[in-house]
Amino acid sequence: MNISILTLFPELYSEFLKASIIGKAQDKNKINAELVNFIDFCNSKERVDSPTFGPGPGMLIRPEVVESAVTQQEQKFGSAFKIFFSPHGKKLDQNLLKELSAKLAQEKHIMLLASRYEGMDARVEEYYADEIISLGDFVLMGGDLPAMCFLEGFLRLIPGVVGNSDSIENDSFSGPLVDHPEYTSPLEFKGLQVPEVIRSGNHALIHEYRQKKAIERTLNGHFNWLRSQPLTKELKAKVHKEMPTHYAVLMHGDILLKDKTVGTSSVTSLDIHDIARSAMTYGIKNYYIVTPLKDQQTIVQTLLDFWNIGHGIEYNIHRHNAIKMVRLNNNLDEVLAQIEKTEGQKPLLIATSAKYHNNTERYITYFDQAKVWKSKRPVLFIFGTGHGLADYILDRCDFILEPLHGFSEFNHLSVRSAAAVIFDKWFGVNLKK
Ligand SMILES: C[S@@+](CC[C@H](N)C(=O)[O-])C[C@H]1O[C@@H](n2cnc3c(N)ncnc32)[C@H](O)[C@@H]1O
Repeated sequence: MNISILTLFPELYSEFLKASIIGKAQDKNKINAELVNFIDFCNSKERVDSPTFGPGPGMLIRPEVVESAVTQQEQKFGSAFKIFFSPHGKKLDQNLLKELSAKLAQEKHIMLLASRYEGMDARVEEYYADEIISLGDFVLMGGDLPAMCFLEGFLRLIPGVVGNSDSIENDSFSGPLVDHPEYTSPLEFKGLQVPEVIRSGNHALIHEYRQKKAIERTLNGHFNWLRSQPLTKELKAKVHKEMPTHYAVLMHGDILLKDKTVGTSSVTSLDIHDIARSAMTYGIKNYYIVTPLKDQQTIVQTLLDFWNIGHGIEYNIHRHNAIKMVRLNNNLDEVLAQIEKTEGQKPLLIATSAKYHNNTERYITYFDQAKVWKSKRPVLFIFGTGHGLADYILDRCDFILEPLHGFSEFNHLSVRSAAAVIFDKWFGVNLKK
């Protein structure tokens, strides 16, 4: 595989290409990397760059310079798969590396074009680029480090470049998990021991321990990766087991009424059914309905009895299975006491609200699961009815979830719709190719 690297700073690559596995791959003739300096395609009076059109500063590498460099390399090694690097490109991850390494393993010529200044003229990318890759949501001074990062990630997936293919298959992001922790000698370092089980010689136990640790690490730092990947039924169950247990409560007491006083609201059968079904879908253990009013409790209990012990069981078994997890309580404290009894510790309380309140330091977003999960305590989502939860309930909560909103100014969702969306944003699987 010939790799042409087109750059303004070839000297940045000379040591990089000699070192380590990339150096060895060249020695073994697995790859032939050739550095090409854009400057060599300008005569002594010409500049390599020219200013951008329109207001604002900035220079771009001239399109004719890129054209000459591309033509020279293609005459030498044949037509190339051309990769540009830019913040607006496709985000580099292990899936993209796998896809490109599978597609390009037999390719004779790959060209990496590293730009500088304000980047490339848009027409150069439009005409030449087979792929535009971004290293992430940040801006570097040039495309050289992205080109080197791409090469390191890409070449280790090309058969024969890395010696032991096992080490590739078990790496972080080769599946849904990041790698488990690894240890070497000495057995004790700064008072920290190599875990006993790793030295036990029992391979089944070691595998189990490593997988548990890998799941923990992934949940704590890479949940969005985990849920973007296909999971086997078995792994899904293990991941769920490692997550703190989640509960949900729908408050019909301690809520605000239209006139902003605190009061109660009426239960609705739709909220009981639909939130139970959503809660079941997303792996919530129990869904509590809180109402202090006896007649309202009677309505809820009648409905629960129909599905739990009555005709409902044979009428629709799925509905029965969802309703089985519903519990009826007088107030929030009763709910907390029940969870504490089951879990052996108090849950963390996450309030949900359609509005912003004053407690800004307690707001969390749908990227903050690890912040909540790191305490390893059960979690209770609190949903309000009427005009939202009373302030004294919000004040008791450890966290408040960012209100749901889209690209409109309207966000008056029914609580059952909000609950479904919130569960999905918090732990929904979100597959990515
Ligand atoms: C200073 S940057 C230009 C940034 C450009 N004006 C923008 O905001 O997208 C110059 C060059 O560095 C490279 N570069 C910078 N950040 C990058 C990233 N996150 N991923 C890939 N390439 C990057 C690209 O080749 C880019 O054209």
